[in-house]
Amino acid sequence: MTQTFGELDHPARLLMGPGPINVHPRVLRAMSVQLLGQFDPEFTGYMNETMALYRQVFQTTNPQTFLIDGTSRAAIEAALVSVLTPGDDVVVVNAGRFGLLLAEIAERCDAKVTMVEGEWGTVVDPQAVEDAVKRVRPRLVACVHGDTSTTMAQPLEAIGEICRRYDTLLYVDATATIGGMSVPVDAWQADIVTGGLQKCLGGPSGSGPITISDRAADHIFGRRHVERGLATPGLAGAGRRIASNYFDLAMIMDYWSDKRLNHHTEAASMLYAARECARVVLEEGLEARFARHAQAGAAVVAGVEAMGLTVYGDKAHKMTNVTAVVIPPGVDGDRVRARMRTDFEIEIGTAFGPLAGKVWRIGAMGVNARKHALLTTLAALEAVLRGEGYGFTAGAGVDAALGVFS
Ligand SMILES: Cc1ncc(COP(=O)(O)O)c(C=O)c1O
Repeated sequence: MTQTFGELDHPARLLMGPGPINVHPRVLRAMSVQLLGQFDPEFTGYMNETMALYRQVFQTTNPQTFLIDGTSRAAIEAALVSVLTPGDDVVVVNAGRFGLLLAEIAERCDAKVTMVEGEWGTVVDPQAVEDAVKRVRPRLVACVHGDTSTTMAQPLEAIGEICRRYDTLLYVDATATIGGMSVPVDAWQADIVTGGLQKCLGGPSGSGPITISDRAADHIFGRRHVERGLATPGLAGAGRRIASNYFDLAMIMDYWSDKRLNHHTEAASMLYAARECARVVLEEGLEARFARHAQAGAAVVAGVEAMGLTVYGDKAHKMTNVTAVVIPPGVDGDRVRARMRTDFEIEIGTAFGPLAGKVWRIGAMGVNARKHALLTTLAALEAVLRGEGYGFTAGAGVDAALGVFS
């Protein structure tokens, strides 16, 4: 039976969850630019430009700064599988869903995982990290910067200093903060940091920016085993071959270098998107962008608190760009989200694991970290909550948020 379907034709929904968010119009336009061959000098020129742009976004001088094709977790997986060999010790700093994801990926690399746990809604004390590092002497410490599941932002300066002191590599997942909160890779002394486009960078998911310090790159090149059909003599490292071909950072670094190793076919439209995301970020300026996200986040907090709602977690360590709001007793969280979508074309986020059904997550990221998007969202939330019988002073949330912008 032949099946036919119409062109994509959905309403313009305002995406105010923890990501994805609405894509910047310039990024959408960049994605519609015609393809080039992957070794066309014009295309390799774009690759080099993208590396230079992301060095600035990551606040680093690392030559090894490029894109992993795939969503953010592809970049995470590339980092962990390329560093860890079976039996290596890794310390995972965990206080949320994405810390657990790091542990899960490290376990799949057959690494020995030691967890340093914090309660959801808090961050982890660096002293606990130091105690674990001193005891275990791991190859790698792995940590999430902003864990969107809890909205907490883990301070990283002290952890970076600990890792240097004990000569341990530090990996950081900055998927949810890059482009919205400061991710000063060199100042943190972090060795590998990965991101994603679909949050504060204002692009679609499908490309994972990554930056790698020289010492991490040396370790990874020590495991270089170029695939048989491409290998030339003299390149193989002494270390154990990386367990994934697709995520083999030694080969991917050779692809992004002057060697132009023919590893994968670069996802050209995603590269155009990532390049444009970084151009937009840098044109605005990092500090201005962080300030805009902080103001937008403060407006969400002021708005929901004025409606009598409670912000979840340790506010002193909250990410600026995502706010978890406790669902008040007697209110059906899923029905509120459904009405936000069907009546107002606005999406806000649900939650996972221990927080499922307990909080909504409201994002203020990229093009949506702006007054009109936040006021519209808060006004809609007020209307829906009133309709659900939740009592508060009408207009209080919008007025409080307006106050933050005035
Ligand atoms: C902190 C963090 N890490 C990793 C991911 C996974 O990203 P992706 O779904 O793009 O693979 C997310 C997605 O929400 C995230 O918030």
